[in-house]
Amino acid sequence: MSHTIHEDTASTKPAPKASTSPKKLFIKTYGCQMNVYDSERISEILAPIGYEAIDTPKDADLVILNTCHIREKAAEKVYSELGRIRKLKTAKNEAGGKMTVAVAGCVAQAEGEEILRRAPVVDLVLGPQTYHKLPEMIAKLSRSRGENLATEFDTKEKFDALPAARKPKGYAAFLTIQEGCDKFCTFCVVPYTRGAEFSRPVDQIIAEARSLAAAGVREITLIGQNVNAYHGAAPRSAPPGGPATWGLGQLIRHVAKIGGVERLRFTTSHPRDMDDDLIEALGQESKLMPYLHLPLQAGSDRILKAMNRGHTYEQYRDLIGRIRKARPDLALSSDFIVGFPGESELDFERTMAAVREIGYGSAFSFKYSVRPGTPGGAMHGQVDEAVKTERLARLQKLLVAQQEDFNKSLIGRTLPILVEGTGKGAGELFGRSPYLQGTHFTGPQSAIGQIVDVTITDAGRNSLSGVLSGGP
Ligand code: SAH
Ligand code: SF4
Ligand code: F3S
Repeated sequence: MSHTIHEDTASTKPAPKASTSPKKLFIKTYGCQMNVYDSERISEILAPIGYEAIDTPKDADLVILNTCHIREKAAEKVYSELGRIRKLKTAKNEAGGKMTVAVAGCVAQAEGEEILRRAPVVDLVLGPQTYHKLPEMIAKLSRSRGENLATEFDTKEKFDALPAARKPKGYAAFLTIQEGCDKFCTFCVVPYTRGAEFSRPVDQIIAEARSLAAAGVREITLIGQNVNAYHGAAPRSAPPGGPATWGLGQLIRHVAKIGGVERLRFTTSHPRDMDDDLIEALGQESKLMPYLHLPLQAGSDRILKAMNRGHTYEQYRDLIGRIRKARPDLALSSDFIVGFPGESELDFERTMAAVREIGYGSAFSFKYSVRPGTPGGAMHGQVDEAVKTERLARLQKLLVAQQEDFNKSLIGRTLPILVEGTGKGAGELFGRSPYLQGTHFTGPQSAIGQIVDVTITDAGRNSLSGVLSGGP
């Protein structure tokens, strides 16, 4: 993507002189898809005030770390990165230059002012619901010592302030439709870092989706912490007497009507919010990809209860049965946590049994990590690190075997691949299958940005390879 600089917009802002060369912006993104989306939006709103994205912090005028607080290690990485940035900032200062350092995202929200104290290299701290204020905060910072901390929770204000027009980088894009969480699973920081559940109005989402389609995007993934809890204001054009808010199934059918958008996905869903209308949409809407991320976390009802997930394993299994009936070609993925407080060997075995029974196309799995302020941290029966390590290894062995089996089961099938760009070898192309595996094959450059049929000839743990259908 090229970041065009709109001189007319820039001239209305107090920031740069139009004659100066573009300022260099480096953003490093940690964590989930929500942060990937936020980083893209941050770079889009900084373009009109003269910032151009580069891919190294060296020489950058503005460095933004868009951070994740989900597990302890994720948060620690930020401070070690800040140590490296400090050296670059000092070097730049000594050479007569200036570097502004901002910490955004979930660590910023969770730690707030503490970051400014612990890492004096940081100039600005802003949470996930305040990044629309960044241009204003940067301008104030350059004039005097303005506000350097923004951690309010006004998700509506943020989305109202962001422009509908998007400048996507490729042919597949994320679109945040819902943010925040009211579920309070006892292990999780998200309700504290992202705030309460908020759904964007349907009209706002459609405008953004149209802008993505107009910019050449063929695949949109609708994202949210609890994407299927979506309940946004119905469009102004909806017939009177209809419901005031729409659910995800209804939204998907509407987005699917946008010309140019060939594929839709949504993530992350919560088992409790998987309603009949959404299951029906999964069965009927051909643009929806046959791949669903539906985290189970654990197979033991005792642990699910302690986690406050709000469902039993049997309810999850029945739900999967209904979803698979509606969409037989569906593959599943999940997140798992091992070593939650109180997890016995028997509890863990239930997770293993659940994985064997359900069968996943792919999955993420983690050792439980105590997070400050969450109920899980204060629970009795914290599990030994060595036990967690051993359980995680067993679980991952099973999950990897399932993933390899699933990928191999696709050999001989012809799959539609969205071609995202060139591969490493000469004439090689790279794209994504309906199940999100990276897929390598040989083909013409003109296929980039298209969906082409590829017959799968080989499969590894993480990727597929094949030949263009009808090709050599
Ligand atoms: N909203 C999603 C998950 C968001 S966080 C859901 O409800 O499923 C992504 C994943 O990180 C979670 O599914 C969980 O498996 C993992 N996770 C969250 N907090 C964690 C913690 N304290 N320790 C280990 N893993 C955690
Ligand atoms: Fe975290 Fe649970 Fe909310 Fe997911 S549903 S974001 S795991 S609190
Ligand atoms: Fe991390 Fe925040 Fe996402 S804690 S997982 S970046 S919502």
